[in-house]
Amino acid sequence: SLPVEKVQALASKNLKDIPSRYIRPEVEFDVVSIDESYQIPVIDMSKLGHDDEQQKLHLACKDWGFFQLINHGVGDEVIDKMKIDVQEFFELPLNEKLACAQLPNNIEGYGQAFVVSEDQKLDWGDMLFLLPRPVPLRNMRFWPTIPPSFRETLDKYSMALQKVAIRLMRLIAKNLGTDLETFASFFEDGTQGIRMNYYPPCAQASKVIGLAPHSDSTALTLLIQVNEVEGLQIKKNGKWIPVKPISGAFIINIGDVMEIMSNGEYKSIEHRAVVNPNKERLSIAAFHSPNISTMIGPLPDVVKAKEAGYRTMPHEEFVRLTISSKLDGKGLLDQMKL
Ligand code: SIN
Ligand code: FE2
Repeated sequence: SLPVEKVQALASKNLKDIPSRYIRPEVEFDVVSIDESYQIPVIDMSKLGHDDEQQKLHLACKDWGFFQLINHGVGDEVIDKMKIDVQEFFELPLNEKLACAQLPNNIEGYGQAFVVSEDQKLDWGDMLFLLPRPVPLRNMRFWPTIPPSFRETLDKYSMALQKVAIRLMRLIAKNLGTDLETFASFFEDGTQGIRMNYYPPCAQASKVIGLAPHSDSTALTLLIQVNEVEGLQIKKNGKWIPVKPISGAFIINIGDVMEIMSNGEYKSIEHRAVVNPNKERLSIAAFHSPNISTMIGPLPDVVKAKEAGYRTMPHEEFVRLTISSKLDGKGLLDQMKL
């Protein structure tokens, strides 16, 4: 990834005109849904296992690829502490954050998402990306030591979210009609990435994008917003729908790996983050994928008499394909389709 200026530093200059590399063509902003009641489904985890709620979950995965999860059992103290420590990290002076800076050819650390060319449009946001799981592969050099509690906080958050993700995978597996234990075993010692996003306010907010439209390449994402500032939008029927987060809920979405495993029954939906003109916005996305020894492809129980719609390949090869398709700007799912 090519080095670019931190957006936080750029935003603090209060420029009258922001650099053209951040300005998006008008066309990318049309068709935002103004129907506030049109919202992603809400799933109550304490009711899952019962037929009605299982059916709601199935339809949420199938028709939306996104839902909010309430009563998930992760304690407020775990979530609140994570929010506080992430906020404190981004409030540090730039040179202190640079202790965790990305290195060339490494996706972890403090910096930006893939910047591959000098003329590429840039996102109005900075991020800290870490891979907390599998635990033995942690790259501690990128983990902040300020605030002092950061590492312990992230460790607890990582563990709590991995547990919720696995519980949810089992309930999803039930809906897909695949063997629970086999499916759950893919996610034991699974990989987990946590991306903390910081979007400074922008005087020309309507002309920039915090995080450009994308689908998540992983299996299941659990997202929280750190402060009250909204910005996540998902694409449905050609329109961008602003998500209204419920306090304490996780916003969950199906990623490319789950679309592939479900043989297209569940969809990995395009989404993006927009920026606020006056207030900074922070969010924390936790990405979950099977362990690295799992084959990525449609589950045989799901395909049954139908045809497999996607290729099958070792997880490591899939990860390489993910990275190369990002570098070439090609759609990962299109390359996986048969
Ligand atoms: C993401 O897609 O990972 C982040 C979206 C957000 O900031 O709400
Ligand atoms: Fe995402």
